[in-house]
Amino acid sequence: MKVLLVGSGGREHAIADAIARSSDKPLLFAVMSKKNPGIAKLCTDFKINNESDFENIVKYAKEKDINIAIVGPEAPLSAGVSDALWNAGIPVVGPKKVCAQIETDKAWARNFMKKYDIPGNPKYGVFENYDLAANFIEELKDVAVKPAGLTGGKGVKVTGDQLPDIEAAKEYTKELLQNDSVVIEERFIGEEFTLQAFVDGKNIVFCPTAQDHKRAYEGDIGPNTGGMGSYTNVGKLVPFLTEKEYEEAKEIMEKVVESIYEETKTYYQGILYGQFILTKDGTKVIEFNARFGDPEAMNILTLLKTDMTKIISAIANQTLDKLNIEFSEKATVCKYAVPEGYPEKPVKDAGIRILKEDYGNDVKIYYSSVYEKDGKIYTTGSRSIGVVGIGDSIKEAEAIAQNVLDSDISGKIFFRRDIGTEKLVQKRIDRMNEIRG
Ligand code: GLY
Repeated sequence: MKVLLVGSGGREHAIADAIARSSDKPLLFAVMSKKNPGIAKLCTDFKINNESDFENIVKYAKEKDINIAIVGPEAPLSAGVSDALWNAGIPVVGPKKVCAQIETDKAWARNFMKKYDIPGNPKYGVFENYDLAANFIEELKDVAVKPAGLTGGKGVKVTGDQLPDIEAAKEYTKELLQNDSVVIEERFIGEEFTLQAFVDGKNIVFCPTAQDHKRAYEGDIGPNTGGMGSYTNVGKLVPFLTEKEYEEAKEIMEKVVESIYEETKTYYQGILYGQFILTKDGTKVIEFNARFGDPEAMNILTLLKTDMTKIISAIANQTLDKLNIEFSEKATVCKYAVPEGYPEKPVKDAGIRILKEDYGNDVKIYYSSVYEKDGKIYTTGSRSIGVVGIGDSIKEAEAIAQNVLDSDISGKIFFRRDIGTEKLVQKRIDRMNEIRG
């Protein structure tokens, strides 16, 4: 089996590793915008190319006689890479453009949820006109302001956080309206969790839930990032989540998959990522993504026991109902080592010393935005190395990841020591107990 992977980050290294672990020993090929040394090592061949340039990607896939492709990031999905590969007769894991709108167009996603009566939608409005948007901000008072299009997860700002008051929310709206329409939403207060699923358009298989940490610094302060680290618990529930809330999130995602087909007459085939928030009024939707989360993919795919090649084939053939997908009964904690100064003024081209890459079953190391020169690894300015500790509890997994970061990885980098610690996890539990009353 020849598998083509599109993408070059930490998420894609985790996908590549899961494919490479498959018992049928597939041959892996990749199209990467920049050479990820971790992915490159697992590949039979790779091409450095713009990941959204579907003409060249199709050409490469045909040249290499690819049987199936998987697209990691959202930008190629938005550009129609999946459509182009399917049109060329190559099955793809990663939804077609029309389905990927669930992530790539925030206004489409909210209007779609409203039209199909999908639970968890906030009060919201989509605006092109500043005065109307400003009136709506006055009405809601506590708001999230989102550009409608793709922002790499960094364009959303909320009052009481990055926006100190209503005036700041209006100012930010004005700025965004110069380039895009703007979605103004009621701000939700609560704990967030991630639920990811394998989807073939007719069937959906859920992964264990995870919690990401968006803020750059310990104590959940500082600028927003793509995600500094994430954890999963033994079993499917992060510790502050109840079975009932988990079921609510599952039902929402099932309804999304069903309704996307109704709306677009196209099956959603790929990964669906739900970002949920538990509020005093129940389980609400922050957003959906049309791909695995980064870093959450590193937690989930590390735990995956079933061959990834079987899963991607079942997604392409719409036979997920015939496959038993299993995850190890372990907890994971992923911590990203990022360059000093990240995300605002990251150190670039700084060497990172990595003492060891293979730790057997306790630890996984995934490369993200780094490059290799003369056998050494260097930062490019974005998140560099994901370290995943695996243990019988979150506490144990945290200690394992922390130990590797402290003793075996060094350079002009930093990471959040608090992710996955007992103290921070307990804080989440206490907060949810308080919110639920
Ligand atoms: N970890 C958040 C995301 O991948 O969008």
